[in-house]
Order: sequence, then structure tokens, then C-alpha cells
Amino acid sequence: MQRIFSGIQPSGIPTLGNYLGAIRNWVPLQRDHECLWCVVDLHAITAWQDPAALTQQTREMAAVLLACGIDPDKHILFLQSSVRAHAQLAWIFNCVARLGWLNRMTQFKDKAGKDREAASSGLYVYPNLMAADIHAYHATRVPVGDDQRQHLELANDIAQKFNHDYGVEFFPAIEPLILGPAARVMSLRDGTKKMSKSDPSEQSRINLNDDPDAIALKIRRAKTDPEPLPSEPAGLEGRAEARNLVGIYAALAGTDHAGVLREHGGKGFGAFKEALAALLVEKLSPIAGETRRLLADPATIDRVLRAGAERAAAIADPIVAETERLVGFLRV
Ligand code: TYM
Repeated sequence: MQRIFSGIQPSGIPTLGNYLGAIRNWVPLQRDHECLWCVVDLHAITAWQDPAALTQQTREMAAVLLACGIDPDKHILFLQSSVRAHAQLAWIFNCVARLGWLNRMTQFKDKAGKDREAASSGLYVYPNLMAADIHAYHATRVPVGDDQRQHLELANDIAQKFNHDYGVEFFPAIEPLILGPAARVMSLRDGTKKMSKSDPSEQSRINLNDDPDAIALKIRRAKTDPEPLPSEPAGLEGRAEARNLVGIYAALAGTDHAGVLREHGGKGFGAFKEALAALLVEKLSPIAGETRRLLADPATIDRVLRAGAERAAAIADPIVAETERLVGFLRV
């Protein structure tokens, strides 16, 4: 059975992008993989987080994952900062990855923005920690949204260079799993920008805890163009906003772009947005309800996370110990 690792930052309320690009695809993978699902709080602090908010958001993220169908008994759900192996291996990978590789990372450029000098050094080495997350478990498959593709290529480069430099076949290659018609959900205000927890505009995203009125309003206000929907996917070319809404609909309805356009092609956006809002409410409301129910008992969530961390450490610690031996650290 192949081992899966994936992570999500507790840097805000999870968005529809996180759900359709990642979480929703994680659930069925649990049928035939051994899975580790990680709330990556070490990654979250690469940008400033208010401490009390971070604590709260971390527990909420765990609750959302459980509400979406993550199974903490058959699989492992845990917090990154609870397992020391991540930071230990990340340091070694900081010494394997080359500056030239990190300089090519588009996410660093996007997140650091114009004032690069003011970005944290953690944000710069973010992809090395991500590589450590995966390789600390010898995981071979990583389900993510499309925006993480470049980071996973880097994780493979790091593994290859480590293996080469130390003359071993220790870290396996990883395969990105970028799944479904909504692997890249875009902002509702700008079809060229990805939907993000950290976008300053609340109108740009659907949060997984939005109530039905908020969902309907955001979809009604979503940017579109004046043309009706095309009847075939080729007609979405050059229409980023239309393509985005059709992709969201397709992912929620369990179909593809063509399937949605067969049903809704020729309609104006007024009618389509109404159908989309209704579908979103139908799919997201149960998640919001279940999240609230779980959060009423935080001690149970914390217990799940503690047990998860113990099981995760039992896998990662021996792998990191062997890495340290390969590097030549004197064990006394
Ligand atoms: P984060 O928290 O930014 O995103 C979590 C997951 O959600 C996906 N995602 C999206 N998918 C489609 N459309 C969007 N607009 C969208 N926004 C986010 C991301 O691709 C991701 O799969 N660096 C990772 C977290 C991480 C990780 C790892 C992932 C840390 N270590 C090891 C895999 C393996 C991230 O982007 O988190």
C-alpha cells in the first residue's frame, strides 16, 4: 500500500479552494492508501500569525478535516509542530537545496510581494520544510492543488540530490496527485488570481463556514462577463471567471466542464449563479454544521491530535535517525 502525505496551513478559515483542490480529494484516497494528514502550523508562521488566533484556527482546521471525512482511526491526523522530525529533517534539507532552486519558486515571489527584503527567511525555505514533511515518512503520493506542483518538483530534486550526495537510495520519488476539475480555484473577484485564505477581500472567497446567505451573496457578486455560458469547454477559452465558476460547479456536482455546459450552456450568469449557490449551500452546509458540533468538544479534538502525533512520530523518528546517520552525525 502506498503512503500518502498532505498538509494544510491553519492560517485562516479553509476556503472552497482548499476544499475542492485538496481536502475533498483526500477522503476517497483513504480507501486504498495509508494516509498522514497534517495541519502545518510551522508553515503557517512563515507569515505573522496572532498567537491566540493561530491556536484557535489550528483546532478549527482539525475540526474541518474531521467534518469533511478524514478518518483519524484508520489514518493519522496530527499537528506538524508536535512531531520534531519535521524541523530536524528540514534543517538537513536546508543544507541540500540550492539557493538557485529556491530563487525559482513562484509562490515565494507571490507571497513576498514587492518588499522581498522584509519577508521572513522561513518563507524562503518553506519548500524545504514541505519536502521534509513528505520525506520524513517516505511517503510516495501527495494530493495537492495545482499551486503546489512546483514545490513537489523541488521535493523530488532534494531527494535526488540527497541520495546522490550520500551515495544511497534512501528517499523515494514522490508523485503529485493533482485531481479534479477544480485543482485551481480562482478568486471570485479576479479570475487570474487564486482563491486564498489570506486575500484581503472577503468577497474573493467562499469560506467553509460561510452561512447560506453569505454564499449566495458572494456568488451573486462574483465577477463574470456579459456573454451567456458556452455549450462546450472550448468556449471557456479566455474567459477566466466563467471557467472558474463552471469548474467549481463541476467539482461539486461530480462531473466535468463538458457535463456542466451540457446542462447549463446558453444560460445567462443570473440563472447559473443561482444554481451554483444552491449547490454550494447543499454541499457545504453539512460540513459547517458538523464542524460546529465537533468544536463544542475541543478536548476530543485535542485527544485525536495527540494520538495522531504519537503514531506519526513512530514512523518519522527512525527515518530521520537513519538520515542523521547517513549524514555522519556522531551518535553518542
Ligand atoms: P495551503 O494551506 O495553502 O493549502 C492547502 C491545500 O489546498 C490547496 N489549495 C487550492 N487548491 C485549489 N485552488 C485553490 N485556490 C487552492 N488554494 C489552496 C493547496 O494546493 C493545498 O493542497 N504548502 C501547502 C501545505 C503543505 C503540504 C506539505 C502539502 C505543507 N507541507 C506537504 C503537501 C505535502 C499549502 O499550500 O497549504
